[in-house]
Amino acid sequence: MALSLRKIACIGAGYVGGPTMAVIADRCPDIDVTVLDLNAERIAAWNSEDLPVYEPGLAEVVSRARGRNLRFVGQAEGAAYVAAADAVFISVNTPTKTEGEGAGKASDLRYVESCARFIAAHATGHTIVIEKSTMPVRAADCVKSILATARPGVTFDILSNPEFLAEGTAIRDLEQPDRVLIGGERPESIAALAEIYRRWVPAERILSTGLWSAELSKLVANAFLAQRVSSINSISALCEVTGADVEEVAAVVGADSRIGPKFLRASVGFGGSCFQKDLLSLIYISESYGLTEVAAYWQQVVDLNQWQKRRFADLIAAPIADGAGSLRGRRIAILGFAFKKDTNDVRETPAIDVCRRLLARGATLAVHDYRVTPESVRSELGALGVEVAATPEAALAGADGVAVLTEWSAYATLDWARLAGRLKVGAVIHDGRNILDAAAVRRAGLTLRSIGRGAQPNA
Ligand code: UDX
Ligand code: ADP
Repeated sequence: MALSLRKIACIGAGYVGGPTMAVIADRCPDIDVTVLDLNAERIAAWNSEDLPVYEPGLAEVVSRARGRNLRFVGQAEGAAYVAAADAVFISVNTPTKTEGEGAGKASDLRYVESCARFIAAHATGHTIVIEKSTMPVRAADCVKSILATARPGVTFDILSNPEFLAEGTAIRDLEQPDRVLIGGERPESIAALAEIYRRWVPAERILSTGLWSAELSKLVANAFLAQRVSSINSISALCEVTGADVEEVAAVVGADSRIGPKFLRASVGFGGSCFQKDLLSLIYISESYGLTEVAAYWQQVVDLNQWQKRRFADLIAAPIADGAGSLRGRRIAILGFAFKKDTNDVRETPAIDVCRRLLARGATLAVHDYRVTPESVRSELGALGVEVAATPEAALAGADGVAVLTEWSAYATLDWARLAGRLKVGAVIHDGRNILDAAAVRRAGLTLRSIGRGAQPNA
């Protein structure tokens, strides 16, 4: 008889687990969905009106399903749901290891391992365990060996079902994915999971591969995307010195259908919880198989990104530093702290490195963001020399320089004619996302420096 997944559980209620399970529950009212997390505060937030993750459209999806076939519970209460589940998703964080073998590169699987132990302890009958978190290749082996410690008679099958959603567009990406990837060894398990996605995803978009290909594909997809950003960012520096315009170059290059127009926006650098972590994981795996040249190739994508962040911070500092290079007594308005627009996530945001570099030179920063909390800003930057502004206007007051670090749409329509008077005379606006209306900024008598474009004189 074909397997049918009627009850599912998901361990980890973060940026991936929460929205993914909410969409599954919304699309499959007949499937019972439980999301559990160690973090009681997070679970309380998922059960409130103030969700812990900001994503356009998420609140509506959650409110339709929660209390019907979607519930968020703590770890202790979750054990019974794991026991009853036909399938359990593992959707916990896999950060870069900070100590031990592979520190600074390899993915830390301790949270995944602890989920596997939890499943081994509580599962009953036959359970499909689904890796949703991004894992290094062959991580399933490690999960399998932990599951093997379960009571006799309890059986498992493992699938890899990596998530490709991007933050800020998570609900759209989940509802209309380019592809759903299911890697596994047993066709009936793959078919059972595919059956869930088939409710709203066309069959031709559901790809099935072996376990290892699925795990590796996720790392490689992120590496290729990050590589495009580093590629265009390397060209941005060349454009600035030659007088070419990176937006024009990107438009021409992207018009080639073999290359395509997406992910060619020059920026202050890529951020987010995935790109750097997955690149480092790919580099570590390559090194561990002795593929030094492969590792060096991908390392350059990371290095270029680090360089772009340093380069941007130094461009902000250049016009206002004193003879000794110090920024003491200088106030810089930072517009945007999230790693991209439409999210409150600050993991690996380029703003952290840019701000730290400016603070290290003695600057005072006034940071504004539409969704990032003051606590998040302070936990990354500390309190010394950091003011969190409630509005862009407040951040700009008395600023010697301005840096746009996140492409929030509202920054694109700031009224520079009105705001110019708040800035110190001669303040330069540095657009790290190329979203400002260059003509409007110049009409306001201000100097604008955009990524990948030479200095633009005032009108
Ligand atoms: C990424 C992948 O897109 C997604 O498929 C995967 O599941 C998780 O990692 P995410 O990190 O949420 O998603 O955001 P993404 O839109 O990919 O942006 C990553 C970073 O690259 C951001 O800092 C963004 O601002 C930057 N970026 C992106 C650019 O600088 N230029 C671009 O053209 C595109
Ligand atoms: P992602 O972006 O991959 O979703 P997050 O850090 O946003 O990552 O979320 C991961 C979640 O997993 C966190 O809320 C964390 O508390 C939870 N978590 C980690 N380990 C466990 C575990 N062993 N059991 C339950 N929840 C866990």
